[in-house]
Amino acid sequence: MRPHILVTRDLPGPALRLLAESCEVDLNREERTLRKEEIVAMIPGKAGLLCTLSDRVDREVINAGKELKIIANYAVGINNIDVSYAKQNRIFVTNTPDVLTDATADIAWALILTLTRRIIPADRFTREGKFRGWAPGLFLGKSIQKKVLGIIGMGRIGKAVARRGVAFGMKVVYSDPNRLGGEEEKNLSIQYLPFQQLLRAADVLTLHLPLTEESRGLVGEKELASMKKGVFLINTARGEIVNEKALVRFLKSGHLAGAGLDVYEREPAMEEELKMMENVVLLPHIGSATVEVREKMAMVAAQNILAALRGEKPPNCVF
Ligand code: DGY
Repeated sequence: MRPHILVTRDLPGPALRLLAESCEVDLNREERTLRKEEIVAMIPGKAGLLCTLSDRVDREVINAGKELKIIANYAVGINNIDVSYAKQNRIFVTNTPDVLTDATADIAWALILTLTRRIIPADRFTREGKFRGWAPGLFLGKSIQKKVLGIIGMGRIGKAVARRGVAFGMKVVYSDPNRLGGEEEKNLSIQYLPFQQLLRAADVLTLHLPLTEESRGLVGEKELASMKKGVFLINTARGEIVNEKALVRFLKSGHLAGAGLDVYEREPAMEEELKMMENVVLLPHIGSATVEVREKMAMVAAQNILAALRGEKPPNCVF
Protein backbone atom coordinates (compact mmCIF):
# COMPACT_ATOMS: atom_id res chain seq x y z
CA MET A 1 0.00 0.00 0.00
CA ARG A 2 1.28 3.49 -0.88
CA PRO A 3 2.05 5.64 2.16
CA HIS A 4 -0.08 8.72 2.76
CA ILE A 5 1.52 12.10 3.42
CA LEU A 6 0.19 15.54 4.27
CA VAL A 7 1.67 18.62 2.57
CA THR A 8 0.43 21.80 4.21
CA ARG A 9 1.16 24.22 1.34
CA ASP A 10 1.53 23.96 -2.42
CA LEU A 11 5.25 24.14 -3.22
CA PRO A 12 7.10 25.28 -6.34
CA GLY A 13 8.98 22.96 -8.68
CA PRO A 14 8.85 19.23 -9.35
CA ALA A 15 9.09 18.01 -5.72
CA LEU A 16 5.40 17.30 -5.22
CA ARG A 17 5.26 15.32 -8.47
CA LEU A 18 8.20 13.27 -7.20
CA LEU A 19 6.36 12.56 -3.96
CA ALA A 20 3.18 11.65 -5.87
CA GLU A 21 5.08 8.92 -7.76
CA SER A 22 5.29 6.82 -4.61
CA CYS A 23 2.88 8.38 -2.09
CA GLU A 24 -0.74 9.45 -1.76
CA VAL A 25 -0.33 13.21 -1.28
CA ASP A 26 -2.97 15.11 0.67
CA LEU A 27 -2.15 18.69 -0.37
CA ASN A 28 -3.57 21.94 0.94
CA ARG A 29 -3.96 23.89 -2.32
CA GLU A 30 -5.38 26.98 -0.64
CA GLU A 31 -3.33 30.17 -0.32
CA ARG A 32 -3.42 30.07 3.47
CA THR A 33 -1.83 28.37 6.44
CA LEU A 34 -3.91 25.50 7.80
CA ARG A 35 -5.28 25.99 11.29
CA LYS A 36 -3.83 23.62 13.85
CA GLU A 37 -7.20 21.86 14.29
CA GLU A 38 -7.22 21.19 10.55
CA ILE A 39 -3.77 19.58 10.70
CA VAL A 40 -4.85 17.56 13.72
CA ALA A 41 -7.90 16.36 11.76
CA MET A 42 -5.87 15.52 8.63
CA ILE A 43 -2.81 13.89 10.20
CA PRO A 44 -4.24 10.50 11.31
CA GLY A 45 -3.09 7.80 8.89
CA LYS A 46 -0.28 9.96 7.45
CA ALA A 47 3.27 8.58 7.44
CA GLY A 48 4.82 11.93 6.54
CA LEU A 49 4.12 15.58 7.19
CA LEU A 50 5.68 18.22 4.96
CA CYS A 51 5.02 21.49 6.77
CA THR A 52 6.13 25.11 6.72
CA LEU A 53 7.48 27.39 9.43
CA SER A 54 3.98 28.81 9.95
CA ASP A 55 2.58 25.41 11.03
CA ARG A 56 2.87 24.75 14.75
CA VAL A 57 3.67 21.08 15.10
CA ASP A 58 3.26 20.57 18.83
CA ARG A 59 2.36 17.61 21.05
CA GLU A 60 -1.27 17.70 19.99
CA VAL A 61 -0.36 17.33 16.30
CA ILE A 62 2.28 14.69 17.05
CA ASN A 63 -0.14 12.73 19.27
CA ALA A 64 -2.74 12.79 16.47
CA GLY A 65 -0.16 11.51 13.97
CA LYS A 66 0.07 7.96 15.27
CA GLU A 67 1.56 6.67 11.98
CA LEU A 68 3.99 9.56 11.48
CA LYS A 69 7.55 8.63 10.59
CA ILE A 70 8.79 12.05 9.55
CA ILE A 71 8.07 15.75 9.94
CA ALA A 72 9.89 17.50 7.09
CA ASN A 73 10.02 21.24 7.66
CA TYR A 74 10.14 23.47 4.60
CA ALA A 75 12.62 25.82 6.34
CA VAL A 76 15.99 25.71 7.99
CA GLY A 77 14.55 26.94 11.30
CA ILE A 78 12.71 24.27 13.28
CA ASN A 79 11.33 26.34 16.17
CA ASN A 80 7.75 25.62 15.01
CA ILE A 81 8.17 21.92 15.83
CA ASP A 82 8.37 20.20 19.22
CA VAL A 83 11.52 18.39 18.16
CA SER A 84 12.21 16.60 21.44
CA TYR A 85 8.65 15.25 21.60
CA ALA A 86 8.91 14.06 17.99
CA LYS A 87 12.20 12.36 18.78
CA GLN A 88 10.70 10.76 21.87
CA ASN A 89 7.98 9.37 19.57
CA ARG A 90 10.62 8.08 17.11
CA ILE A 91 9.59 10.54 14.41
CA PHE A 92 12.35 12.08 12.32
CA VAL A 93 12.43 15.88 12.04
CA THR A 94 14.23 17.37 9.04
CA ASN A 95 14.96 20.86 7.73
CA THR A 96 16.31 22.41 4.52
CA PRO A 97 19.80 23.75 5.26
CA ASP A 98 22.47 24.88 2.75
CA VAL A 99 20.20 25.58 -0.23
CA LEU A 100 18.93 28.83 1.33
CA THR A 101 22.17 30.09 2.86
CA ASP A 102 23.14 32.56 0.12
CA ALA A 103 19.60 33.82 -0.48
CA THR A 104 19.17 34.58 3.22
CA ALA A 105 22.59 36.25 3.45
CA ASP A 106 21.65 38.30 0.38
CA ILE A 107 18.41 39.51 1.94
CA ALA A 108 20.28 40.59 5.10
CA TRP A 109 22.62 42.55 2.86
CA ALA A 110 19.73 43.98 0.87
CA LEU A 111 18.39 45.32 4.17
CA ILE A 112 21.77 46.71 5.23
CA LEU A 113 22.26 48.62 1.99
CA THR A 114 18.62 49.71 1.71
CA LEU A 115 18.77 51.18 5.21
CA THR A 116 22.19 52.76 5.21
CA ARG A 117 21.68 54.34 1.75
CA ARG A 118 18.05 55.34 2.40
CA ILE A 119 16.85 53.60 -0.75
CA ILE A 120 13.13 53.44 0.14
CA PRO A 121 12.59 57.17 0.91
CA ALA A 122 14.80 58.11 -2.05
CA ASP A 123 12.76 55.87 -4.36
CA ARG A 124 9.51 57.36 -3.05
CA PHE A 125 10.87 60.92 -3.47
CA THR A 126 11.84 60.18 -7.09
CA ARG A 127 8.49 58.58 -7.96
CA GLU A 128 6.64 61.51 -6.42
CA GLY A 129 8.32 63.80 -8.97
CA LYS A 130 10.36 65.64 -6.33
CA PHE A 131 13.71 65.08 -7.99
CA ARG A 132 14.70 68.51 -9.35
CA GLY A 133 18.36 67.71 -10.03
CA TRP A 134 21.50 66.54 -8.30
CA ALA A 135 22.28 68.20 -4.97
CA PRO A 136 25.23 67.77 -2.60
CA GLY A 137 23.01 67.04 0.39
CA LEU A 138 20.31 64.92 -1.24
CA PHE A 139 19.58 61.70 0.67
CA LEU A 140 22.90 61.36 2.40
CA GLY A 141 23.25 57.93 3.90
CA LYS A 142 25.98 56.28 5.94
CA SER A 143 29.06 54.64 4.47
CA ILE A 144 29.68 51.10 5.67
CA GLN A 145 33.33 50.80 4.65
CA LYS A 146 35.66 50.44 7.64
CA LYS A 147 32.63 50.28 9.95
CA VAL A 148 32.02 47.33 12.26
CA LEU A 149 29.60 44.60 11.18
CA GLY A 150 28.54 42.61 14.25
CA ILE A 151 27.11 39.18 13.53
CA ILE A 152 25.32 37.22 16.22
CA GLY A 153 25.32 33.55 15.21
CA MET A 154 28.17 32.25 13.07
CA GLY A 155 26.55 29.26 11.39
CA ARG A 156 26.18 28.81 7.64
CA ILE A 157 24.19 32.00 7.09
CA GLY A 158 26.32 34.06 9.50
CA LYS A 159 29.43 33.02 7.57
CA ALA A 160 27.85 33.93 4.22
CA VAL A 161 26.92 37.35 5.64
CA ALA A 162 30.47 37.74 6.98
CA ARG A 163 32.03 37.01 3.56
CA ARG A 164 29.86 39.69 2.01
CA GLY A 165 30.77 42.09 4.84
CA VAL A 166 34.49 41.59 4.23
CA ALA A 167 33.93 42.10 0.48
CA PHE A 168 32.16 45.40 1.25
CA GLY A 169 35.17 46.57 3.25
CA MET A 170 33.68 46.17 6.72
CA LYS A 171 35.46 45.00 9.83
CA VAL A 172 33.53 41.85 10.78
CA VAL A 173 33.17 40.71 14.40
CA TYR A 174 30.93 37.92 15.67
CA SER A 175 29.57 36.29 18.73
CA ASP A 176 28.37 32.69 19.01
CA PRO A 177 28.19 30.20 21.90
CA ASN A 178 30.42 27.95 19.77
CA ARG A 179 33.46 29.97 18.85
CA LEU A 180 35.04 28.97 15.51
CA GLY A 181 38.60 27.68 15.37
CA GLY A 182 41.41 30.18 14.85
CA GLU A 183 42.10 28.92 11.33
CA GLU A 184 38.50 29.40 10.23
CA GLU A 185 38.34 32.87 11.81
CA LYS A 186 41.50 33.74 9.91
CA ASN A 187 40.16 32.37 6.62
CA LEU A 188 36.95 34.35 7.02
CA SER A 189 38.84 37.46 8.23
CA ILE A 190 36.55 37.77 11.23
CA GLN A 191 37.17 38.35 14.92
CA TYR A 192 35.32 36.80 17.86
CA LEU A 193 33.93 39.07 20.58
CA PRO A 194 31.94 38.11 23.68
CA PHE A 195 28.26 39.04 23.28
CA GLN A 196 28.33 42.20 25.46
CA GLN A 197 31.43 43.53 23.75
CA LEU A 198 29.95 42.82 20.34
CA LEU A 199 26.84 44.84 21.23
CA ARG A 200 29.01 47.83 22.07
CA ALA A 201 31.27 47.50 19.02
CA ALA A 202 28.84 47.11 16.10
CA ASP A 203 27.79 49.88 13.70
CA VAL A 204 25.55 47.35 11.98
CA LEU A 205 24.31 44.40 14.01
CA THR A 206 22.76 41.43 12.23
CA LEU A 207 21.15 38.31 13.72
CA HIS A 208 21.76 34.84 12.30
CA LEU A 209 20.98 32.45 15.11
CA PRO A 210 18.15 29.94 15.54
CA LEU A 211 15.23 30.62 17.86
CA THR A 212 15.70 28.52 20.99
CA GLU A 213 14.78 28.99 24.64
CA GLU A 214 18.20 30.66 25.07
CA SER A 215 17.83 33.09 22.16
CA ARG A 216 14.19 34.08 22.76
CA GLY A 217 14.24 37.76 23.78
CA LEU A 218 18.04 37.87 23.53
CA VAL A 219 17.92 41.44 22.22
CA GLY A 220 15.84 43.35 24.74
CA GLU A 221 15.85 46.73 26.51
CA LYS A 222 19.22 46.16 28.22
CA GLU A 223 20.98 44.93 25.09
CA LEU A 224 19.58 47.73 22.92
CA ALA A 225 20.73 50.26 25.53
CA SER A 226 24.26 48.90 25.48
CA MET A 227 24.53 49.20 21.68
CA LYS A 228 26.36 52.11 20.11
CA LYS A 229 24.21 55.16 19.40
CA GLY A 230 23.45 55.21 15.69
CA VAL A 231 23.59 51.42 15.19
CA PHE A 232 21.50 49.70 12.50
CA LEU A 233 19.82 46.43 13.55
CA ILE A 234 19.01 43.72 11.01
CA ASN A 235 16.85 40.68 11.80
CA THR A 236 16.33 37.98 9.18
CA ALA A 237 16.44 35.14 11.74
CA ARG A 238 13.33 34.93 13.94
CA GLY A 239 11.23 37.78 15.30
CA GLU A 240 11.05 36.40 18.84
CA ILE A 241 14.80 36.99 19.31
CA VAL A 242 14.14 40.75 19.52
CA ASN A 243 11.79 42.49 21.95
CA GLU A 244 9.82 44.44 19.34
CA LYS A 245 8.26 46.96 21.75
CA ALA A 246 11.73 47.84 23.10
CA LEU A 247 13.01 48.08 19.52
CA VAL A 248 10.30 50.65 18.71
CA ARG A 249 11.27 52.71 21.77
CA PHE A 250 14.96 52.73 20.82
CA LEU A 251 14.17 53.64 17.21
CA LYS A 252 11.93 56.48 18.39
CA SER A 253 14.57 57.84 20.76
CA GLY A 254 17.11 57.86 17.92
CA HIS A 255 19.45 55.52 19.80
CA LEU A 256 19.09 53.14 16.86
CA ALA A 257 19.63 54.73 13.45
CA GLY A 258 17.39 52.16 11.79
CA ALA A 259 16.15 48.60 11.60
CA GLY A 260 15.77 46.15 8.76
CA LEU A 261 13.30 43.39 9.56
CA ASP A 262 12.25 40.30 7.66
CA VAL A 263 10.71 38.62 10.70
CA TYR A 264 8.46 39.72 13.58
CA GLU A 265 7.79 38.77 17.15
CA ARG A 266 4.13 37.91 16.52
CA GLU A 267 4.35 37.21 12.82
CA PRO A 268 2.56 38.14 10.61
CA ALA A 269 1.52 40.90 13.04
CA MET A 270 4.01 43.58 14.00
CA GLU A 271 4.18 46.69 16.17
CA GLU A 272 2.05 49.18 14.21
CA GLU A 273 4.49 52.02 14.88
CA LEU A 274 7.16 50.27 12.82
CA LYS A 275 5.07 50.92 9.71
CA MET A 276 5.20 54.68 10.29
CA MET A 277 8.96 54.91 10.62
CA GLU A 278 11.10 56.20 7.76
CA ASN A 279 14.24 54.55 9.13
CA VAL A 280 12.77 51.06 9.12
CA VAL A 281 12.61 48.60 6.23
CA LEU A 282 9.99 45.87 6.57
CA LEU A 283 9.91 42.66 4.54
CA PRO A 284 7.35 39.83 4.68
CA HIS A 285 9.71 36.97 5.72
CA ILE A 286 11.27 36.47 2.28
CA GLY A 287 14.80 35.47 3.28
CA SER A 288 14.78 32.33 1.15
CA ALA A 289 12.29 33.58 -1.43
CA THR A 290 13.86 33.00 -4.84
CA VAL A 291 12.39 30.60 -7.38
CA GLU A 292 15.58 28.55 -7.45
CA VAL A 293 15.89 28.28 -3.68
CA ARG A 294 12.24 27.54 -2.93
CA GLU A 295 12.27 24.77 -5.58
CA LYS A 296 15.42 23.30 -4.06
CA MET A 297 13.95 23.51 -0.56
CA ALA A 298 10.92 21.55 -1.77
CA MET A 299 13.17 18.94 -3.31
CA VAL A 300 15.24 18.63 -0.11
CA ALA A 301 12.07 18.19 1.97
CA ALA A 302 10.72 15.60 -0.50
CA GLN A 303 13.99 13.64 -0.47
CA ASN A 304 13.92 13.61 3.32
CA ILE A 305 10.37 12.22 3.30
CA LEU A 306 11.20 9.55 0.73
CA ALA A 307 14.28 8.45 2.70
CA ALA A 308 12.27 8.13 5.93
CA LEU A 309 9.54 6.17 4.14
CA ARG A 310 12.19 3.77 2.81
CA GLY A 311 13.17 3.18 6.44
CA GLU A 312 16.41 5.19 6.21
CA LYS A 313 17.57 8.05 8.38
CA PRO A 314 16.82 11.13 6.24
CA PRO A 315 19.83 13.22 5.15
CA ASN A 316 18.73 16.37 6.99
CA CYS A 317 17.54 14.86 10.25
CA VAL A 318 18.14 17.51 12.94
CA PHE A 319 19.08 14.98 15.66
C1 DGY B 1 13.88 29.42 7.25
O1 DGY B 1 14.05 28.56 6.41
O2 DGY B 1 13.94 29.19 8.46
C2 DGY B 1 13.60 30.79 6.74
O3 DGY B 1 13.18 31.63 7.73
C3 DGY B 1 12.64 30.69 5.58
O4 DGY B 1 12.64 31.85 4.83
